[in-house]
Amino acid sequence: MESPTPGRRPVIVGNWKMHRTVRESVELVDRLKPLVGASGHCDIVVAPPFTALWAAARAAEGSPIAIAAQDLYWESQGAYTGEVSAGMVAEAGCRFAILGHSERRSLFGETSRAVSRKAAAALEAGLTPIVCLGETLSERESGRTETVIGTRFRQSLDGLTEDALYRTMIAYEPVWAIGTGRAATPEMAQDVHALIRGLAAEVFGRQAAEQLPILYGGSVKPENVDGLLARADIDGALVGGASLKAESFAAIVDFQV
Ligand code: 13P
Repeated sequence: MESPTPGRRPVIVGNWKMHRTVRESVELVDRLKPLVGASGHCDIVVAPPFTALWAAARAAEGSPIAIAAQDLYWESQGAYTGEVSAGMVAEAGCRFAILGHSERRSLFGETSRAVSRKAAAALEAGLTPIVCLGETLSERESGRTETVIGTRFRQSLDGLTEDALYRTMIAYEPVWAIGTGRAATPEMAQDVHALIRGLAAEVFGRQAAEQLPILYGGSVKPENVDGLLARADIDGALVGGASLKAESFAAIVDFQV
């Protein structure tokens, strides 16, 4: 299967959120491996909880499945009780880090400024940051989507160089579509993805923007993934609920465009 846009390889990421113990994570990776073994057409990433990262990375060895952390802290070590550094998750076997998820922003008060520091720390540790941004329902309904996406994009990537953008991914996750069963239509998502690519071109230059993978997240299912990934600027999916079952995640990985 061809990549939807030459030069941008599709990426399917499963965000397990606060689900799966160590044992359950290993079982899920073990169940996924035979189902996605022949998937050369896209990159496959799963993000278990911190406790399961090392074991999941071990279980995924020799398979196309890469591991992501769901968050990290920007300092490398020190008196920061409860925090985990980029170097620590990299050593545990992660190659990616999901940063600035809307649940971190809304439930834990994470600011875009904090996200930019985390992205810089992730890059420094050799991880690929997957920086999430999206608008709430009231922001969309009051016609502020473009403004809030613009602000969140600039602030969350503040201080990153053009070179860093080549090692970064963006996930557009409209807050109203997360866990609601109500995904954005491919048209709605494409509009915001094109907006984000335009912002990336303004800030980092056209060439860096053209290669930037922009993933869509929010109620992605086997039934709607094809329509979303068929769109020009939708380069992959960040999947929550449907990533917790091997069969449904594998069916998403098996998307057809
Ligand atoms: P759902 O796929 O469950 O809507 O979650 C999306 C998400 O938040 C992925 O990060």
